[in-house]
Amino acid sequence: MNRLQCPDPRVVSIADLQREGTRKLGKMYGEYYNEGSMDLITLNDNSAAFDRVRLRPRVCVDVSAVDMSTECFGTQVSMPLGFSPAAFHALAHPSGEVGTSRAAAKAGINMVLSTYATASVSDVTAQGRGNAYGMQLSMVVDWDSNLHIVRNAERAGCRALVLTVDCACLGRRLNEYRNEFCLPPTLQLPNLPPGVDVHNPVAGNDPRSSYDNAFTWDKVKRLIASTSMPVYLKGILTAEDAILAANAGATGVIVSNHGGRQLDGALATFDALEGVANAVKGRIEVHLDGGIRRGSDIFKAIALGADHCWVGRVPIWGLAYDGEDGVSLGLKILRDELLITMSLCGCRTLKDIRRSHLARMQADGTWAALADFRRSELAVLRETEQVAKL
Ligand SMILES: Cc1cc2nc3c(=O)[nH]c(=O)nc-3n(C[C@H](O)[C@H](O)[C@H](O)COP(=O)(O)O)c2cc1C
Repeated sequence: MNRLQCPDPRVVSIADLQREGTRKLGKMYGEYYNEGSMDLITLNDNSAAFDRVRLRPRVCVDVSAVDMSTECFGTQVSMPLGFSPAAFHALAHPSGEVGTSRAAAKAGINMVLSTYATASVSDVTAQGRGNAYGMQLSMVVDWDSNLHIVRNAERAGCRALVLTVDCACLGRRLNEYRNEFCLPPTLQLPNLPPGVDVHNPVAGNDPRSSYDNAFTWDKVKRLIASTSMPVYLKGILTAEDAILAANAGATGVIVSNHGGRQLDGALATFDALEGVANAVKGRIEVHLDGGIRRGSDIFKAIALGADHCWVGRVPIWGLAYDGEDGVSLGLKILRDELLITMSLCGCRTLKDIRRSHLARMQADGTWAALADFRRSELAVLRETEQVAKL
């Protein structure tokens, strides 16, 4: 019956992984990871947006050899999914980002390391097996501190710089106030410039750790000019900013709302994707993160124009559940689900995934094609033998 194996009957979905991983995290860290800013509207909508769209399967296609591979950061990856930068992996498991990196390397996918990682960028990239790494940068006031992180990443062999642009100030994360969130005194943040107070890296008046809230497109251009790494802007939600990112020389944008941790009430990333892709796709790369919990979510993002997808919390839940093996389990689940979705939608490669595989349910119970499927997709279909025979 072509039934894929599930190695752990307790965890057969990402929802299971979240539940089991969270159980081990305790209240303060569990809520730190799982919650977001204010009333969690954007956090919840990130996943709900995928569920508002249905699939239109195609049948009688030979899917005996589905190929999910693609290219990301100049490297061949086994599927269009990687790990978003997320702070403090060692709070979830002692192996921290090194464990996450090993799981990424085993699966042949890419990983972006947070500025606030608990392992050094060189230790993380040392786990690589041909997969690529990116370094995330939150711009702080002191330019040399930004360059410190950039140069370390270059030395460690990072293949991309991911500049987070949705962080002029930190979102209002109520759980952190309620739980009086604090880091264990032994925790290290080795990628910050020497001398920065690692237990209060994003507060206070230290220009080496205060976010630069006077950060503008000129500084984006200056940063792009100052590194040999391709630069991706993470935190773009509008066509307007995507065009400005392309004009500034970015290699790509990551449609992201920081996993609902910054501006609550902002658009879900899946809802924002179409406008961004329509504005810049083909000119620069368009990636997406936020709310991906199933392989079918990856499929839907690709169908709507994403070149690549990322997950932030999935590896954290995996780490918390069972260290590196838990991260690998999360990846296997998403990989199997993407394979099944592609097979049942009649897609042999990622290029076969089209907007015409998606439908949006309407208030009167009928479905509608997404955007201009009828014009653009039928034009493509008309060129194929398949339609000639209809
Ligand atoms: C605990 C946690 C810490 C994060 N830290 C960072 C960070 O340091 N820099 C950054 O750009 N994004 C950070 N993010 C956002 C992620 O990169 C990503 O955008 C988000 O997690 C994607 O949503 P998902 O968790 O639903 O996959 C963090 C997210 C979480 C959950």
